[in-house]
Amino acid sequence: MKVVLQHLTKQFPSRNKKSNDVVTAVNDFTFEIPDGKLIGLLGPSGCGKSTALNLISGLIAPTSGRIFFGDDDVTDLPPENRGVGLVFQSYALYPHLTVRENIMFPLQNLKGDDRPSKEEMEKRVLEAAKLVQIEGLMDRKPGEMSGGQQQRVAIARAVVKMPKVLLLDEPLSNLDARLRLQTREEIRRIQRDTGITTVFVTHDQEEAMSISDMIVVMKDGVVQQIGKPQAVYDDPINLFVSKFLGTPPINVFEGRVKGGRLFIGDEAVLAVPGAPDGDVWAGIRPEGFIPDANGPFTCKLRGVEVMGRDISVVCAHDRHQSPQIRAIISAENVIDEHAESVRFALKPYKVHLFDRATEERIRFDTGAKGGN
Ligand SMILES: Nc1ncnc2c1ncn2[C@@H]1O[C@H](COP(=O)(O)OP(=O)(O)O)[C@@H](O)[C@H]1O
Ligand SMILES: [Mg+2]
Repeated sequence: MKVVLQHLTKQFPSRNKKSNDVVTAVNDFTFEIPDGKLIGLLGPSGCGKSTALNLISGLIAPTSGRIFFGDDDVTDLPPENRGVGLVFQSYALYPHLTVRENIMFPLQNLKGDDRPSKEEMEKRVLEAAKLVQIEGLMDRKPGEMSGGQQQRVAIARAVVKMPKVLLLDEPLSNLDARLRLQTREEIRRIQRDTGITTVFVTHDQEEAMSISDMIVVMKDGVVQQIGKPQAVYDDPINLFVSKFLGTPPINVFEGRVKGGRLFIGDEAVLAVPGAPDGDVWAGIRPEGFIPDANGPFTCKLRGVEVMGRDISVVCAHDRHQSPQIRAIISAENVIDEHAESVRFALKPYKVHLFDRATEERIRFDTGAKGGN
């Protein structure tokens, strides 16, 4: 089931009682979530992710705009009539019910013709439990299970009705790091197995990048960019998006374009044909640095961290936005860690320029592979 948002907007009265201001939590969302895909709604805390999800579920009503499931306008339907499954950060299970009873609960709430027979309910509960691999724990109560197991029960409960759309709001945030990784892979597998159109909300870019078919990057209630994770990473539309995606983060320098060349400090570090003269932010991905004794870009060397497959070269530069630059290079390189400075050549398609004032992307001709 595809989901279409048309000019969807939600305003709240300001929480500051004395002010008459409004907060626009979701500002004019217009995009389509393709049938059967998993999309990641991604952005920092407070950017409107939960509000967007709650609008899709029907838990809150929009200030303006419409929501369609397929061709049906569901904007005025209550949540129980939309056919959505919801999973929240807090597992929100009924503590006095067993796993079986918790998963069965949404089916028992169905009315009239929608309500399956007892045997059908049992069968579907078992199928949902198998999907999340908790069929061995059916008689336990939530208090007798780990956080990861409880969240699986919550997922089973959300999918047992075979919802048209599955909505997950930071479902992994309460799990420890290892379980988080494991459970996100499970969610991806369940989504693929069932083909349910799924919206996954997270503030964790790595989480969103790793499981989503498509990510929607948000800031202050406004969609910044929509696309496949790798495409958004490789081709960010503005400085915010470039900084939000990637670990270690992109390294941002004060730079200047003059005569088709990028200057950082006094050094002309890269040919940027087609970029207009002016002040820029120059973002260089950690993997964009090539150690090169004759390279045009000189940084002060602060340390070398060997990480097995890669080496992390920690440097500094007075035009860099923060004290530390991180370059990630292959462990086959040899860096003299006692040297005062290190010289680099740059991979053009790993360098992104942004207008210093508007922070919008400035394009140049990278010559080789990758869009820039
Ligand atoms: N019920 C509400 N009343 C007033 N303001 C709200 C309400 N819900 C959310 N907001 C505000 O809307 C913005 C977006 O919130 P939210 O959707 O929860 O963000 P996120 O899930 O991305 O952290 C925030 O500024 C938040 O304070
Ligand atoms: Mg939230």
